[in-house]
Amino acid sequence: MASLSAYFAVAILTAQAYCVPTSRNERREAALPEFVNTYDLGAQLANTQPQIDYKVVEGALSPLTLYNLDSLNALNGSNIYLTSIESTTSNPQPQWLKGVVPDSTGKTNGASKDRYRKDEADEYGRYNWGGKVIGLNFDDHIGDWEHTMTRFSNGEPEAMWYSQHGSGEAFEFSAIPKYGNGVRPIVYSANGSHANYATSGTHDHTIPGLDLPLGIALVDYTDDGYLWDPTLSAYYASVSFASGSTTPVFAAYDSTTPVNWLNFVGKWGDQQYNSSYPGQYDVFGQYRYSGGPTGPEAKDLNRGEGTCPSGDPAPCIVLPAVTPGEKV
Ligand SMILES: *[C@@H]1O[C@H](CO)[C@@H](O)[C@H](O)[C@H]1NC(C)=O
Ligand SMILES: *[C@@H]1O[C@H](CO)[C@@H](O)[C@H](O)[C@H]1NC(C)=O
Ligand SMILES: *[C@@H]1O[C@H](CO)[C@@H](O)[C@H](O)[C@H]1NC(C)=O
Repeated sequence: MASLSAYFAVAILTAQAYCVPTSRNERREAALPEFVNTYDLGAQLANTQPQIDYKVVEGALSPLTLYNLDSLNALNGSNIYLTSIESTTSNPQPQWLKGVVPDSTGKTNGASKDRYRKDEADEYGRYNWGGKVIGLNFDDHIGDWEHTMTRFSNGEPEAMWYSQHGSGEAFEFSAIPKYGNGVRPIVYSANGSHANYATSGTHDHTIPGLDLPLGIALVDYTDDGYLWDPTLSAYYASVSFASGSTTPVFAAYDSTTPVNWLNFVGKWGDQQYNSSYPGQYDVFGQYRYSGGPTGPEAKDLNRGEGTCPSGDPAPCIVLPAVTPGEKV
């Protein structure tokens, strides 16, 4: 499981970058030559095939790439699961699931992150290790789309959303710990689950949207781990909405950023394994191997004046202080 440490990162998001597209593009182009589809997002497409009900979808383009993925939408796309060709439960796990450990500067070489101007910065990890509850694993699945969202007012960061599983927390920007006491907010990505927190330690997320210090049941763990600076290997795209529409329209900031994949409405991982799958179990409907998540287009990118996504089960309260995680 040591490989999972790749995800155990402190992701540093730059607040400034959202306001200054020009410098962002320059930085992006300087940092990234032509993208190869070996270890970046495209690797998930090279190592999976589209399936519905465990059967390969006929008539799909081959190969599927970040430039044509939304062609699947016309093939019953919302029911499609990008399913690993090699079993995700093989031992050792397929290499492509293991991600990339950031180097000493915080750069994930050969891996990419995607960021959206204005509203979203989605975080990508290839395998979600759900964590242990009473000694059992739950919610293991491929693909994970946790995200942070920074809200600006007159160019100044005002509030930030940290996604945590099906919910999350919103904080006043001024309350969030900054890297080196500078301007960039710190995001702790939980070991295995990738849920985002503003502080290190253990976080009990039994009640959606509440970060309780004491572990009762469902617990995430964060610490300083590897520094991960997503701006060093990121794709940047903007998102906008036609009047009255909730369908996001993505646009690249530069010619080397693919955006077509952002429109894919299917799931980024295997369909939940059925009960005949070796090792599958459930306790009160929580499955060990759950289904893959929906992608960025489904993250309520059009939040209007709000900070929390509309599907959030908890009331949206922008907290004036962060909760320190319990230190063990
Ligand atoms: C993350 O959790 C896994 C599973 O318990 C563990 O093996 C691994 O050491 C943890 N990673 C870190 C960096 O603590
Ligand atoms: C799409 O997939 C779902 C799930 O398998 C199935 O129930 C439905 O009939 C499919 N729709 C079409 C138009 O094929
Ligand atoms: C259970 O899943 C396997 C693939 O893991 C599939 O071949 C089989 O058809 C599924 N059974 C049912 C009843 O869906």
